[in-house]
Amino acid sequence: MNIDLSGHVAVVTGAGSGIGRKVAGIMAEAGAQVAVADINASASDETVELINKVDGHAEAFEVDVTSLESIRELQASTSRSMGLCDIVVNCAGWNVGQPFLENNPEFIEHVVSLNLLGCIYMCREYLGPLVESGKSGWVVNVSSDAGRVGSLGETVYAASKGGVVAFTKSLAREMARYSINVNCVAPGPTDTPLFHLQPEKIQAALVRAIPLKRLGEPEEVANVIVFLASQRASYVTGQVLSVSGGLTMVD
Ligand SMILES: NC(=O)c1ccc[n+]([C@@H]2O[C@H](COP(=O)([O-])OP(=O)(O)OC[C@H]3O[C@@H](n4cnc5c(N)ncnc54)[C@H](O)[C@@H]3O)[C@@H](O)[C@H]2O)c1
Repeated sequence: MNIDLSGHVAVVTGAGSGIGRKVAGIMAEAGAQVAVADINASASDETVELINKVDGHAEAFEVDVTSLESIRELQASTSRSMGLCDIVVNCAGWNVGQPFLENNPEFIEHVVSLNLLGCIYMCREYLGPLVESGKSGWVVNVSSDAGRVGSLGETVYAASKGGVVAFTKSLAREMARYSINVNCVAPGPTDTPLFHLQPEKIQAALVRAIPLKRLGEPEEVANVIVFLASQRASYVTGQVLSVSGGLTMVD
């Protein structure tokens, strides 16, 4: 099944690494112009280089999604150099496992700000111009299975990702009248630098618990995100899809 994104402009946060980098690459391969947005400027540049090598079109942008001002600057810059974005992928995220009672306020606020508010403000800034243009569009938010079923040692992260799920569903209802589909992907344990921040014992235990008995590859999650950001998913909105090797099987 080919996915054709030619004529579309996508902004992908967290595109300097892991799942976001693969999303940017697959979207560019499918013909989209891709704004590669990340807090790590050299990582974004590397993603763009990879895309340019295969003749895709991408540009790197620096953004800190915990700052509304930075998101506004990103929106203005992508609009100036690439035009209207009709695909928004919120992939930037971070966490470190820690017992809840050891979480300090700075950690808690950072986790919520990055994983939940970053996603909310990206949508707030990008959807206004899209609605005004009258064009249809796609939003894919990256949650986590932690946000669907809970996760020991990831309590605040799970709360932020559960917030992404609720935000996605409500936003989908509001955006449907503008033909903007809003969906959410919930990755399970995926082989990226973020996953490897966890202690090895926990990594091994997670792999044992996965019915498919292995970690997900970033590309396997990215494929689903790209599908949900395409015309191939034209009748899908307000949904949460786990990509977790069967670790979670949620109704
Ligand atoms: N890897 C997993 O096992 C897993 C599981 C469930 C959910 N997720 C989610 O998938 C998404 C992608 O994670 P990944 O595994 O590819 O991680 P990753 O660490 O490989 O990539 C995350 C990217 O986000 C960027 N980033 C961090 N803070 C940022 C900020 N303030 N502003 C802009 N960019 C910022 C990082 O620089 C990095 O390039 C995240 O939302 C994560 O929570 C990952």
